[in-house]
Amino acid sequence: MNLAGSVVLVTGGAGGLGEATVRRVAAAGASVVIADLADDRAEKLAAELGPGARYVRTDVTDEAGVAQAVEEAKKLGTFRYAVVAHGGFGVAEKVVGRDGSPAGLAGFTKTVDLYLTGTFNVLRIAAAAIAESEPDVDGQRGAIVATASIAAFEGQIGQIAYAAAKAGVVGMTLVAARDLGSLGIRAVTVAPGTMRTPIMESVGDEALARFAANIPNPRRLGRPEEYAALVQHILENPYLNGETIRLDGAQRFGPR
Ligand SMILES: NC(=O)c1ccc[n+]([C@@H]2O[C@H](COP(=O)([O-])OP(=O)(O)OC[C@H]3O[C@@H](n4cnc5c(N)ncnc54)[C@H](O)[C@@H]3O)[C@@H](O)[C@H]2O)c1
Repeated sequence: MNLAGSVVLVTGGAGGLGEATVRRVAAAGASVVIADLADDRAEKLAAELGPGARYVRTDVTDEAGVAQAVEEAKKLGTFRYAVVAHGGFGVAEKVVGRDGSPAGLAGFTKTVDLYLTGTFNVLRIAAAAIAESEPDVDGQRGAIVATASIAAFEGQIGQIAYAAAKAGVVGMTLVAARDLGSLGIRAVTVAPGTMRTPIMESVGDEALARFAANIPNPRRLGRPEEYAALVQHILENPYLNGETIRLDGAQRFGPR
């Protein structure tokens, strides 16, 4: 399927992996809806990309907000693709703390709400809208790409909430592909390793060098452009479906 002439909705499109995706699909000729909460960055990016790009302030956990972003995507042209790439809150807490008290429930719930429920919220509303578009000669209407993490498979100490949410995203992928198969909509997940996004850069050079030392090859953090290139390929390759693809330079997280 060709991106040119289609509309792509990207959650978290104003920063990090989402922004790289927005830039990549726009360069490939797609129109794009930036669904994010960072007004300044999102408006600047939309203005830079021109009339084919639109910012819709969207909290992925909010039903009405996501529905509105999807409505904007339908107005821009043939809505075929959604990429779920938002970041945000993630609690870091061990199951039992040093003082012997159990981890809080609120942080766990909030993390799962953002990453897992937020992904499902976008998946379900976007899929229903993509299903309204005309299929191509191969019966294809579009695709939805979600973003997990290698923490879904080897979560580190303190990452129980994040790992659970991301494992949930991995678990949804095949079911979504099966559920949406009759509609000609594919579902694929990317599980990045350690990517050099602004959030990651904020940990400082020393920590970044430590992260890089654990990545076999290339011995560096991943580039957001490498994530965006994979997403473009997934969107355009109709035989990729129901799978989670690691993008990690062969990195495997240890316990910490
Ligand atoms: N950066 C990495 O190394 C890495 C590694 C593995 C997985 N991931 C995953 O990739 C995704 C993107 O990571 P990132 O580093 O680009 O994230 P990020 O923290 O830079 O956030 C991306 C965007 O999401 C937006 N956002 C935050 N809360 C939102 C909400 N409720 N609704 C809509 N948008 C919201 C932010 O404003 C931001 O512009 C995340 O799901 C993250 O877990 C990232």
